[in-house]
Amino acid sequence: MSKFDEIKARDNKFFMNTYAPLDICFEKGEGCYLTDTEGNVYLDFLGGIAVNALGYNHPVFTNALIEQAQKVAVISNYFYNEKRGLMAEQLVKGTTLGKVFFGNSGAEANECAIKLARKYYKVKGETRYKIVSALQSFHGRTLATVTATGQEKYNKPFAPLPEGIGTYIPYNDEEALRNALEDSEVAALLLEPIQGEGGIIPATESYMKLARELTKEKGVLLILDEVQTGAGRTGKFWAYEHYGIEPDVITCAKGIGGGIPVSACIATEEVAKAFVPGDHGTTFGAQPLATAVGYAVCKKIREDGFMDDVAKKGNYLITELKKIEDARIKDVRGLGLIVGMEMESAEVAKDIYNRMFKKGFILNVCGGKVLRFVPPLIITIDQIATMLKALKETIAEM
Ligand SMILES: Cc1ncc(COP(=O)(O)O)c(C=O)c1O
Repeated sequence: MSKFDEIKARDNKFFMNTYAPLDICFEKGEGCYLTDTEGNVYLDFLGGIAVNALGYNHPVFTNALIEQAQKVAVISNYFYNEKRGLMAEQLVKGTTLGKVFFGNSGAEANECAIKLARKYYKVKGETRYKIVSALQSFHGRTLATVTATGQEKYNKPFAPLPEGIGTYIPYNDEEALRNALEDSEVAALLLEPIQGEGGIIPATESYMKLARELTKEKGVLLILDEVQTGAGRTGKFWAYEHYGIEPDVITCAKGIGGGIPVSACIATEEVAKAFVPGDHGTTFGAQPLATAVGYAVCKKIREDGFMDDVAKKGNYLITELKKIEDARIKDVRGLGLIVGMEMESAEVAKDIYNRMFKKGFILNVCGGKVLRFVPPLIITIDQIATMLKALKETIAEM
């Protein structure tokens, strides 16, 4: 039995059946490359699903992790801790937001935002409790966040779903947005600036501006889910910065930890005041180990030139993808290093994905038929060019 077969057999025996993994197991990563148990090397354009911002074994990530592990990993939130404050400072930098609650996953960050919105209006004495979100959105797998997720396949099997969450509007539809916000019981509008899992669909500028304008006018909170788009992914620290607006709450995870599980719900001082001790909590959130790493990763991303470089590489990727002429390509879209190439069908997208895998490139399909490119932010132009060459050849041979 090969090493891989042994790993697979044990996994299939003990790991709960919620994924359908490929027949491959990666043992090691370095930079943007992953090596499997057979010694094959792959260039990674998935990055742990937009998580590994600094790639694999980056000294900033690894050193912060080791240094903090040697000091103290977890002490509980009953005490002060230097690293959570430092990481929070990095997250609010340059925004109009003031306070951070740390969790461990994107779903927890959104769960926190939903609870915060409800508590905010309770404190104000208003009966606003409903959460409006978009069709094709993705906000997580907890019961509340999977209900906010505007895709039936994720939430229908778990009905009955929590009340007041799950008013869905078509994304980028301004009329639907106006109508939804007429409801005086709406507490928050929850939107991704770019729908990630839904197929890399950026919000239009006028839609985002209208979302901000209307929520302000109606006294509704604007929560932006930056779980996939935050931490420099789009060439700015937050994707919303491209739209010239300021949200009331941001939720984030994935890239802010560069590979360690850490997430955050970030709110304005005014909104955050609704939470008092005892309202919300988590054992692992905000612990020294995760926040020390997150602090180091966010500081690195904020270094001069880092995000400009992401923007430059993203522009190159999008421009080059747009140059590929093939009737089966329906659209290329994205911002920075979150890019989607929509194919004519799920079969074509899957075929490209499989062929590219065999050639040593890890891509992914989201939104049914969209090839997703979310590489580590440290990817180089040369590495992108290598992938593009293989992609062009693959499409030509199909
Ligand atoms: C926009 C968005 N929100 C929330 C989530 C959920 O994050 P997690 O899987 O860390 O709970 C995801 C995950 O893909 C996401 O893309």
